[in-house]
Amino acid sequence: NVKSWEGSRCSFGQVKGVPLLEPTVQNWELVENFRAQPDDLLIATYPKAGTTWTQEIVDLILNDGDAEKCRRAPTHKRMPFLEMFPVPPLESGVSQLDKMPSPRVIKTHLPIQLVPQSFWDNNCKVIYMARNAKDSVVSYFYFDRMNRIQPDPGPWDQYLHKFMHGQLCCGYWCDHVKGYWREKETKRILYLLYEDMKENPRDEVIRVMRFLEHSLPDDIIDRITELTSFSTMKENPMANYSTIPDSVFDRSVSTFMRKGEVGDWLNHFSPEESRLFDEHYEKMMSGTSIPFRTQL
Ligand code: A3P
Repeated sequence: NVKSWEGSRCSFGQVKGVPLLEPTVQNWELVENFRAQPDDLLIATYPKAGTTWTQEIVDLILNDGDAEKCRRAPTHKRMPFLEMFPVPPLESGVSQLDKMPSPRVIKTHLPIQLVPQSFWDNNCKVIYMARNAKDSVVSYFYFDRMNRIQPDPGPWDQYLHKFMHGQLCCGYWCDHVKGYWREKETKRILYLLYEDMKENPRDEVIRVMRFLEHSLPDDIIDRITELTSFSTMKENPMANYSTIPDSVFDRSVSTFMRKGEVGDWLNHFSPEESRLFDEHYEKMMSGTSIPFRTQL
């Protein structure tokens, strides 16, 4: 395990063929045997799809739009990261969750086949947020460069190849987004798209609120929409990961709240990279109907 917030980069291990950080693999038994409770809410994403954004929306809804309550602690303490290994002084996600009173909101990046069985046995609600592949890989590249715990991303062209071939943490993007999409009719999964959220955040906040069986007046819904805008969250130290030390998040490379846009991939993909990516994407995603958009 990582001994302290020194920012030593991890290597990859595997669980059932899915690449995960080595310390997660070492802790796997604890994650697999995690005991979910019926009122747990799981927020699941492929990395960089807008997890933190979704978490903030959920916490504000559950707290009736009370901004002060939602500033009680940073995101990763309010809604622990299930498969996160201990990085002292932080305990593992599972240890934090074991001590947490219900109802708990839990973050995961695990593909659906690795989600602990107890979530399904308890018929827990899941909110899945997905983001188009091209913006996801760009965001992931910046994150892997700045987060000194993540394996070394290498240069962009090689990184793009690794993303396309499922060699980054959490494996294939395609398998991840398709896995939750397939199960959304048989399990209690609300499937959200980053691009929809950008285009019309208020409508998506309402969808989340209804899924959580909450009812809030219009002015509170407006407030939640405003409090979870990119510009407001970027300034909120409890929602922008600014509490993570510089030794881990190298902010000279990028901030966590980087751009928050749809279509930033256009600034990073060469025309040839885009063509090859699209060709590969067509094959990987054939027969799927998830309405992704790469531009608004
Ligand atoms: P960019 O790197 O493209 O800026 P995650 O929370 O899953 O790690 O995702 C992080 C990505 O979501 C980053 O994308 C971040 O800027 C973006 N993000 C976070 N909060 C957001 C918000 N309120 N609105 C839009 N994008 C947001």
